[in-house]
Amino acid sequence: MLNFNFKNQTEILFGKGQIKEAKSRLPKDAKVLLLYGGGSIKRNGVYDDVVKLLEGVSYHEFGGVEPNPTLETLMQAVELVRAKGINFIMAVGGGSVIDGAKFVAAAAHFDGEPWHILAKGAAFTSALPIGAVLTLPATGSESNGNSVVTNKATAQKRAFGSDLVQPVFAVLDPVYTYSLPLKQVGNGVVDAFVHVIEQYLTYPVNAPLQDRFAEGILQTLIGEGPKALATPQDYDVRANVMWSATMALNGLIGKGVPQDWATHMIGHELTALFGLDHAQTLAIVLPPLMYVQRETKRQKLLQLGQRVFDISNGTEDEIIDKAIKATQDFFEHMGVKTRLSDYNLAATDIDKLIANLERNGMTALGEHADIDLAKARQILTLAL
Ligand code: NZQ
Ligand code: ZN
Repeated sequence: MLNFNFKNQTEILFGKGQIKEAKSRLPKDAKVLLLYGGGSIKRNGVYDDVVKLLEGVSYHEFGGVEPNPTLETLMQAVELVRAKGINFIMAVGGGSVIDGAKFVAAAAHFDGEPWHILAKGAAFTSALPIGAVLTLPATGSESNGNSVVTNKATAQKRAFGSDLVQPVFAVLDPVYTYSLPLKQVGNGVVDAFVHVIEQYLTYPVNAPLQDRFAEGILQTLIGEGPKALATPQDYDVRANVMWSATMALNGLIGKGVPQDWATHMIGHELTALFGLDHAQTLAIVLPPLMYVQRETKRQKLLQLGQRVFDISNGTEDEIIDKAIKATQDFFEHMGVKTRLSDYNLAATDIDKLIANLERNGMTALGEHADIDLAKARQILTLAL
């Protein structure tokens, strides 16, 4: 096992009605920014619950954070924070709103060019505290320090991470997810699944506990994900999906093991250039990446096939092929298409993707840093 430090500072307030608990977690002198997305929270009652929570608290609102949040929009929220002396951000929504809150929290007191926090990894020394109310289980953003923001002007989607921006609390009420469109349910399950894969499907380092955690989350997503599509109002199903997505990327399962993240990095270019949903990009990239990396990932691909998908018959290569196929079938079963052509993308678009990977320095990806531009092209070509 590799060395690691582990701390997760986010207090999880899990379950029906748990938003009531959040009030006592707000700072006494709180001047809150209520940050949200395109308005789903006004249609499903979550906004009303949050406004009730904020009774007697000084707050301002900023709505309109878009999916794949943009620098351009978030900078308007930064201006509001600075103008009103806000000292706490309440992020209500999915990964985009929570990621957006993290950027606003870091940029608000930053002296330099805020985009450099993402583009150049510029260090910041303080950030506003954040509380999250999660409405879409997918990214794990509610209990990690990561944020992904898109610069519309330059078509770049970049990430930064810091403990300073990790939410201090996160309300996870499964009832808040009942109103999700089926497409977002599928997206969320696929994203969480791929988060686990990025931390599991590398090479063995004798870390059986991390492997079992990862396999447990994958199996739960495979079991519960389709039920969330079939019976959207089933509380227990929603609860199990929600907790799985949080556990998939709250830091725990990736400690002491190698990590990949190439699927995500290649996927980010698909969103930056062509506007695909985050999970759609992962569903396109992961199966061919598994295929191209089958030798370096051999042991873990076998383990995935045998333990997660219960494949026992066949040669090693047949088990690996079946595991890749089972992964792709699961994404399709969740309603997320897995081919570039499903999104009207063709071979000529691959050139643009490769150029963007190069521009962003994404030329040595994966747990062995061996996915160069040629391999990325091979992966994308197989995805056509
Ligand atoms: O904007 P509103 O109106 O709220 O609607 C949203 C949005 O249109 C809607 N939605 C959310 N909760 C809902 C709901 N609609 C009805 N009922 C509800 N309860 O769903 C749409 C998508 O929301 P979004 O927040 O964009 O989705 P998601 O949670 O999948 O977040 C995606 C973003 O997170 C980043 C992605 O790159 C992408 O920008 N990621 C963040 C990560 C992290 N912080 O660790 C890791 C991930 O790998 C990912 O990169
Ligand atoms: Zn993701």
